[in-house]
Parts: sequence; C-alpha cells; structure tokens
Amino acid sequence: METKKITPATVRADFNDLLAVVHYTRAAHGLGLWRSERTLIERFFPDRTAHLLEAGCGAGRVTLGLWELGYRQITAFDFAEELVDQAQSLAAERNAGAITFQHADATDPELPNLLGYTFSGALFMFNGLMQIPGRANRRQALHELHRVCRPGAPLLFTTHDRDASPTERVLWRLEAARWARGEQDPRLVEFGDRYFADEAGRTFMHLPDRQEILDDLAATGWTHAFDAMRGEIARESSAVHAFSDECRFWVARRV
Ligand SMILES: C[S@@+](CC[C@H](N)C(=O)[O-])C[C@H]1O[C@@H](n2cnc3c(N)ncnc32)[C@H](O)[C@@H]1O
Repeated sequence: METKKITPATVRADFNDLLAVVHYTRAAHGLGLWRSERTLIERFFPDRTAHLLEAGCGAGRVTLGLWELGYRQITAFDFAEELVDQAQSLAAERNAGAITFQHADATDPELPNLLGYTFSGALFMFNGLMQIPGRANRRQALHELHRVCRPGAPLLFTTHDRDASPTERVLWRLEAARWARGEQDPRLVEFGDRYFADEAGRTFMHLPDRQEILDDLAATGWTHAFDAMRGEIARESSAVHAFSDECRFWVARRV
C-alpha cells in the first residue's frame, strides 16, 4: 500500500480528477440546495443584499442555490481549478454572471488580499472544511475566513460527527485501537481521518467529534451559535440521501 501522507495537494488533485468533476458538476446542475441548507441559509442570512463568501464552492451547487434564493453579492472560491471552471460556466448559463468566482486556497494567508475584508457572511458547505488534512490547517482556514469577515458575520458549515450513532461509536473505538497499535492506514494524518474511493473518485475526509469543532471555533475567533444533525433540521429527498450522508450543521459568528 502507498504510505505517503495525504497532503492538501493530494486533495486538490483528487477534486480536479474527472470523476470528481463529473460528480460535483452533475449535482450543481441537477440537485441544487438541500432543504436543510436552504432552511439554515434563510434563518441565518436574512439580508439578501449582504456580501457573502462561499469557500469550497466546487462546481457551484450551493453558489447557484444562493443566487436562486435572491442573494446578489456573492464571491465564491475553490482551490480546484476544474471545478471553478464548471461553476463559472453554470453561472453564465443561468444568467448569474454577477457572481465573482476565484481560484483560491482557504488556508492561504494571502486570502484577504485576494478577496478583501468585507464579507457579511461565509459558508463552507458539504464538509469542505473537513477535507483539509491536518487540524492546524483547518484552523488556519477558519482564521482566514475570520479575517475576511466583518464582526457578527455568520459562518455556516458542515462536518460529520464520530459520535452520531452507536454503530459509528463502535467503529471509531475499533479505529482508535488500530491507531494505538500503529496499524492505521499510514496515509492518514490524524485520528478521525478517512481516505476512500467511490463513484465520486478519491475522497479525504476528517471526521471530528463535537468538542473538536467547538475548540477550533473558540481558537480562531468564532463563537458557536447553532449546531444540529441534518435529520433534525429537515427531511431530505432520496436524491439528497444518494448524494450525501448524514452530517452536522454548524453556525458560528465572527467575534
Ligand atoms: C465536498 S466538495 C463540496 C463542493 C460544493 N460546495 C458542493 O456542496 O457541491 C468540497 C469542496 O471543498 C474544496 N476545498 C477543499 N479544501 C479546500 C481549500 N483548502 N481551499 C479551497 N477549497 C477547498 C474542494 O475542492 C471541493 O470543491
């Protein structure tokens, strides 16, 4: 087995891969916003004139969803160029050319110079933040998003939750025992990481517990405003269930 650790470059190459590009482009064209996403966007981003920033926009599934809900000042960025290209074409096709797309990395200290400091709200949807390998790097992304947002701005994002069900708790106890013996997948960076392949291509994902996220928010200047599992927020269609598994939604506010 390959033993090189997964890096941000691995993740970026996986998202630029044809399988991933087709998967996320299809969802951007056909699936659109989940009910849970729409519910929380409308609850926490009531001002349709606010300047919003979407990190990890991929092929534009959420970006175009925001546009269709009536938000008109949207800047969206992703570090996978192929996905940003797809998002840009979809925006042109849907007469949403006023959306600004950028190719950028959420962990880049130059992010504020590239995007400005003016955002009244930010989103990092469908677990994108958890696809950054290394906790220090995920905190760096939260720190950069903090820098580009105004005080009081909401940040909406999702993660998995290792404690979400009794089955998951058992599986993660077994994984903890593998780490204790040094028998974990050597490509993983930290406990909680997974790296797997399916119809969307290769996927790196860090699965946190709830306390980890609370600590990361507190360490990067965000106050916790809300969290709940998706199933507690809305009943999703079978198409959404086929595209994505259960997750925890989070809203934090910039201090
Ligand atoms: C699961 S996809 C979600 C895409 C889109 N938001 C959606 O919901 O369909 C996660 C996205 O986060 C992006 N991403 C991961 N790490 C990133 C980083 N450090 N900077 C910018 N984008 C990143 C990936 O390229 C990918 O497009």
